[in-house]
Amino acid sequence: MSAIIDPDIRKARTLPSAFYTDEGKFEQILEGFANNWHFAAHKSQLSGRSAVELGHLERMIGESIVLAGGDEIRCMSNVCTHRGMLLVDGSCSNNTLQCPYHGRTFGLDGRMKSMPEFDQVEDFPTTQDDLRIFPSLFWKGLVFTGIKPSGMEACLEEMEGRIGWMPIETFDHDLSRNRCYDIRANWALYVDNYLEGFHIPFVHNDLNRALDYDNYRTEIFDGGVLQIGIASEGEPTFEIPEESPDFGLNVAAYYYWIFPGLMLNFYPWGLSVNLVVPLSVDRTRVEYHGFVWDKKFLGKGAGGDLDKVEAEDQYVVESTQRGVSSGSYERGRYSPTKETGVHHFHRMLTS
Ligand code: FES
Ligand SMILES: [Fe+2]
Repeated sequence: MSAIIDPDIRKARTLPSAFYTDEGKFEQILEGFANNWHFAAHKSQLSGRSAVELGHLERMIGESIVLAGGDEIRCMSNVCTHRGMLLVDGSCSNNTLQCPYHGRTFGLDGRMKSMPEFDQVEDFPTTQDDLRIFPSLFWKGLVFTGIKPSGMEACLEEMEGRIGWMPIETFDHDLSRNRCYDIRANWALYVDNYLEGFHIPFVHNDLNRALDYDNYRTEIFDGGVLQIGIASEGEPTFEIPEESPDFGLNVAAYYYWIFPGLMLNFYPWGLSVNLVVPLSVDRTRVEYHGFVWDKKFLGKGAGGDLDKVEAEDQYVVESTQRGVSSGSYERGRYSPTKETGVHHFHRMLTS
């Protein structure tokens, strides 16, 4: 059987519209997310708190998970082992987690510590009464987790070689930059749109002024895509050290996307983590979390007005959802110079 997406972009046709509209396909793709690493949090999200609920993961992989900061940082189940109540609603600052239903307590390591009215229960407690701990991966203050995750190595290697010089672990969570957008479109359409700079001159007039469109770059790697926005004259740029492969370039933004829905957007002011969370076949939630590195660049350049760029993107993505749902559209073709990132994503989605 030939591949759904031809590996040769010049011959390839784009993703069949059923991928954006068919509920069965949607569910099948989501089931596969159990095998991926997912962004959990930046460790600064814990500051002053002992546990934080990671709501986006419940929708991505069907598990309510908390990030717990005990003797070490863990991703653990938020589900009480008694009758299944959720332990943490939002966040908590205590050193033990107490279930609000019947009072069972757990340590920040997930071990069950106490339970009222259970003295007569035989063979209790056992490890079955402890909270489930999920695998975790740490990179420069970023925490990743998953159910049976694999395959993040190439992404971390790529980021280490490229932006490993940034002190990402010292970036500070800025709650005022949190955003949550609900969009009437399939999650993959939102990702498609993110993975090309082709639309920038048509859709984003201010961003287009901040970026040098002719020098916009896209690189693909195993598990993800990197886009590099080069600054227009006079716009803020990174001070890139000599050991970086990009030394000498006027980089305004590094846009990393990691399958399926993680966007790590690095600007001179810091990092915007954008999480694409599928809600249903034609509904998607996008969460923004901002981590500040250098305040003086806030509000400037390519990462200056993210709300405006987001609104412009949502308009085209929602309109495209209506288009691909029509009987007149089945699939299209790719630009070999501008849509290599979209092609790479579609190949991953259909392999
Ligand atoms: S469900 Fe948690 S103590 Fe009962
Ligand atoms: Fe855009």
